[in-house]
Amino acid sequence: MLRVILLLALVSVASPVDNVDMVNMCMNAKHQKRTPGPEGQLYKQCAPWRDNACCTANTTEEAHEDNSNLYNFNWNHCGTMTPACKQHFIQDTCFYECSPHLGPWIDQVDQSWRKERILNVPLCQEDCETWWKDCKLDFTCKENWHKGWDWSSGINQCPIGTKCQKFTDIFPTPQSMCEKIWSNSYAYTTFKRGSGRCMQMWFNGSNPNKAVAEYYAAKAPSSNLPVFLPLLSVLLALFLS
Ligand SMILES: *[C@@H]1O[C@H](CO)[C@@H](O)[C@H](O)[C@H]1NC(C)=O
Ligand SMILES: *[C@@H]1O[C@H](CO)[C@@H](O)[C@H](O)[C@H]1NC(C)=O
Repeated sequence: MLRVILLLALVSVASPVDNVDMVNMCMNAKHQKRTPGPEGQLYKQCAPWRDNACCTANTTEEAHEDNSNLYNFNWNHCGTMTPACKQHFIQDTCFYECSPHLGPWIDQVDQSWRKERILNVPLCQEDCETWWKDCKLDFTCKENWHKGWDWSSGINQCPIGTKCQKFTDIFPTPQSMCEKIWSNSYAYTTFKRGSGRCMQMWFNGSNPNKAVAEYYAAKAPSSNLPVFLPLLSVLLALFLS
């Protein structure tokens, strides 16, 4: 009996779940590093992640380019995107590529270009709403920018049967834009910046999103199990010995 319990303790301690620190890790996608760490040279809008990042300097420089080599994605598919709007897409790219605190929202996917994605990351209300407001004068032809493009020229173009419309015709509300544009990578929330309950795309100074990830990681019911099981087994073993 004792041996079985000790074995159980050992197995659960060694299980791979424990090796991933949910609140400090990098997702297995196209450009992210394997593990987070300091990156002193991160570029412009991505600079806030310098202390601890999943992106490299090169990725962050590319993130500021039109038709960057990251995804060959063309922001200007319905005329030139305004700078006011584009800064949010750059910030969104920085957040996606650099953030080491997305663990609680990482989902496995079977895609040729990535094994993991983010799903329903609770975005702070202001970050979503200013993004939407700053894009009000822009145009697009699609609601979901992840799929359905005409890639025949190498960059994404509006597929036949769609037409360029005002952003607000495609996305009538901030929520519709933040949630639909990247197939639910983000979830709209009414949590405010600094509340500790939502993720900020924009920040200066120390990264406020670590505490948010810790809050949601602790809330996830399964997350306590890997700690709890070995603890219980060790206690049982001590008790029975
Ligand atoms: C990033 O690295 C790639 C591959 O080495 C290179 O082709 C590209 O020019 C670099 N981008 C920047 C902005 O330095
Ligand atoms: C970050 O600092 C810059 C420069 O001081 C400022 O313009 C910007 O509003 C600040 N952003 C946030 C999210 O605090």
